[in-house]
Amino acid sequence: MSRNLRPVSSVLLIFIFFSVIFPEVLPQLINSSYPNCPSYNCSDVTIDYPFWRSDTEFTSQFCGYEGFGINCSVINNTVIPTINLSGEPYHVQRINYNTSVISLVDYDVSNIIHVPNDCPRVRHGIDLGTLSFNFSQSNANLSFHYNCTGYPSFANAIPCLDSSTVRKASVNVINPATENFNWSEYACDEEVVTTVLREAIIVAGSDQGINYVSGLRRGFELNWWPVEDCRKCEESEGRCGRNNNTSELMCFCSDGTNQCNKGTFNYTTTRIS
Ligand SMILES: *[C@@H]1O[C@H](CO)[C@@H](O)[C@H](O)[C@H]1NC(C)=O
Ligand SMILES: *[C@@H]1O[C@H](CO)[C@@H](O)[C@H](O)[C@H]1NC(C)=O
Ligand SMILES: *[C@@H]1O[C@H](CO)[C@@H](O)[C@H](O)[C@H]1NC(C)=O
Ligand SMILES: *[C@@H]1O[C@H](CO)[C@@H](O)[C@H](O)[C@H]1NC(C)=O
Ligand SMILES: *[C@@H]1O[C@H](CO)[C@@H](O)[C@H](O)[C@H]1NC(C)=O
Ligand SMILES: *[C@@H]1O[C@H](CO)[C@@H](O)[C@H](O)[C@H]1NC(C)=O
Ligand SMILES: *[C@@H]1O[C@H](CO)[C@@H](O)[C@H](O)[C@H]1NC(C)=O
Ligand SMILES: *[C@@H]1O[C@H](CO)[C@@H](O)[C@H](O)[C@H]1NC(C)=O
Ligand SMILES: *[C@@H]1O[C@H](CO)[C@@H](O)[C@H](O)[C@H]1NC(C)=O
Ligand SMILES: *[C@@H]1O[C@H](CO)[C@@H](O)[C@H](O)[C@H]1NC(C)=O
Ligand SMILES: *[C@@H]1O[C@H](CO)[C@@H](O)[C@H](O)[C@H]1NC(C)=O
Ligand SMILES: *[C@@H]1O[C@H](CO)[C@@H](O)[C@H](O)[C@H]1NC(C)=O
Repeated sequence: MSRNLRPVSSVLLIFIFFSVIFPEVLPQLINSSYPNCPSYNCSDVTIDYPFWRSDTEFTSQFCGYEGFGINCSVINNTVIPTINLSGEPYHVQRINYNTSVISLVDYDVSNIIHVPNDCPRVRHGIDLGTLSFNFSQSNANLSFHYNCTGYPSFANAIPCLDSSTVRKASVNVINPATENFNWSEYACDEEVVTTVLREAIIVAGSDQGINYVSGLRRGFELNWWPVEDCRKCEESEGRCGRNNNTSELMCFCSDGTNQCNKGTFNYTTTRIS
């Protein structure tokens, strides 16, 4: 077990070293809370626990939840924060730490990528995998059908995505009236379901058409909630992380040790196989 504590121990050793040589440095070091869990501004998105920055060179350990790494890299001269969900990139637009809501846009259809005729094509669904994310209640689901022989009256044609004059593309909102529709008569090659903010697709003064392009560009919202493995660490006012080389959970405490709230909680790192 002591092997897992090595990064924390070396920080302690440095503390002790400096406190002997330069005693006046110690209070400053002690005051810096969660030394391994820095906050970082990526464009106008603040990356803070349980999110973490994934594009630094210090990737042997991270403070935050698995899968919550945000890549803050420069794309075409612009700083663009992205997060991966099941290997697919999403543009991070906002993170609200008060309400635990993160707003994302599928990178393929975001306005970062310029597509001819302003005609984005959704290529994949949104797979949250086992991450502790949930779709928020503000979303609606859209179903895209490609290369069909036609489309039912409740669907909206997307002429710019037709693959030929007889292979049509369309989109519809998934609701109780449409979700069980049998599409087999239209012999589509592909169906992709994605999620957008409900309010973003409403066309004023119409209950038929939907503005799916502006919906795609505004993206969708996810809620996150505490990871069970991290509960004990967080209850003792620590912050959860992981050693990426050994996959072991770590608990970072405000005093730089790995024993948060001394006396009430004795945290040892646990191996997740
Ligand atoms: C550190 O904490 C001590 C005691 O709580 C306080 O007196 C001091 O001003 C703090 N220093 C900084 C840099 O915050
Ligand atoms: C991030 O930006 C906010 C708002 O502009 C600011 O209050 C905060 O200090 C910044 N944080 C860092 C780590 O730069
Ligand atoms: C971050 O994004 C950049 C640009 O897309 C990419 O080159 C880099 O590999 C990414 N890094 C990580 C850790 O995902
Ligand atoms: C963690 O390790 C895996 C496999 O070694 C690597 O693919 C991944 O990029 C690492 N993640 C970070 C944040 O360093
Ligand atoms: C995100 O996915 C890309 C492409 O699959 C990969 O290169 C990158 O390392 C991933 N980044 C993280 C933080 O997992
Ligand atoms: C979160 O709450 C704090 C304190 O109540 C407030 O100052 C801040 O503006 C809120 N942030 C957001 C994004 O709502
Ligand atoms: C960067 O800009 C070029 C030229 O505008 C464009 O062709 C390319 O798709 C852009 N790359 C990304 C990743 O958006
Ligand atoms: C996430 O959503 C699923 C399905 O709606 C629900 O069963 C689950 O309780 C939610 N989890 C949390 C933590 O809200
Ligand atoms: C949209 O689809 C997701 C994933 O299948 C589901 O969890 C969610 O409840 C759906 N949302 C609505 C509003 O139907
Ligand atoms: C859809 O209709 C086709 C042809 O009428 C039928 O073979 C198929 O079983 C139906 N599918 C479902 C899920 O009802
Ligand atoms: C749709 O049709 C186009 C053109 O005929 C073809 O290139 C594409 O592979 C088809 N898509 C699928 C999913 O079959
Ligand atoms: C932490 O708990 C373990 C097992 O309960 C015990 O062996 C160890 O002595 C405790 N450490 C401290 C510092 O209390």
